[in-house]
Amino acid sequence: MDKRLFFEATKRNRDFIGDVLSRIIKKDGLILEIGSGSGEHGVVFQKRFPDIIWQTSDPDSLNRKSIISWIEYEELNKKMPQPLELDVENIPWKITSKLSQSLLGIVSINMIHVTNWDCTIALFKGAGKLLKADQFLLLYGPFKIGNKHTSQSNYFFDNSLKKQNDLWGIRNIEEIAEEAKKNGFIQEDIISMPANNFSIIYRKVYFS
Ligand SMILES: C[S@@+](CC[C@H](N)C(=O)[O-])C[C@H]1O[C@@H](n2cnc3c(N)ncnc32)[C@H](O)[C@@H]1O
Repeated sequence: MDKRLFFEATKRNRDFIGDVLSRIIKKDGLILEIGSGSGEHGVVFQKRFPDIIWQTSDPDSLNRKSIISWIEYEELNKKMPQPLELDVENIPWKITSKLSQSLLGIVSINMIHVTNWDCTIALFKGAGKLLKADQFLLLYGPFKIGNKHTSQSNYFFDNSLKKQNDLWGIRNIEEIAEEAKKNGFIQEDIISMPANNFSIIYRKVYFS
């Protein structure tokens, strides 16, 4: 049965995020996506970067079913692995040694503002344990800079998030950078993206 979900924002941001990925994917290997949601990004990036393996994950079973449906719909079964059940807060992440050996980096899109701050802490802790020196963690989404919103629309969006859950909200880039640093990452690049979003590339610099 077709269990595909459709997350509208993915259509607007996938090409731009793909352009950022094309700058940082330099060799064959596997990319682990955290909080893959519907799986629409996963199948698009798998098709755009046929030399890599796109490993999706999500803690939500409806999302994982959607990801499986999208993989089937796009006839990527032979290429793309099934989604992992991965909640960033369950550290250590259950990742096979085969997967971690071929890992190039981790990507998480629009996740950290719709979860509590502990998830951001856990994301960097888990990624810091898994990634080796020179590997990357790419975050995409809206962020605050110097604790200030970068647009009025982000201010309204932040308020609407907090109305849904007072632990959610647009995160401050400097506070994220602190978590990155604690786990052996440098903030390598901040790329301004359409619709007041950013891609932030964190690079693992040492084993922790
Ligand atoms: C706004 S959706 C974004 C989904 C997808 N990345 C996208 O851009 O369409 C947030 C995603 O974070 C996932 N998520 C929530 N809590 C999580 C956690 N503790 N660990 C990993 N992912 C989580 C949700 O299941 C959901 O798929």
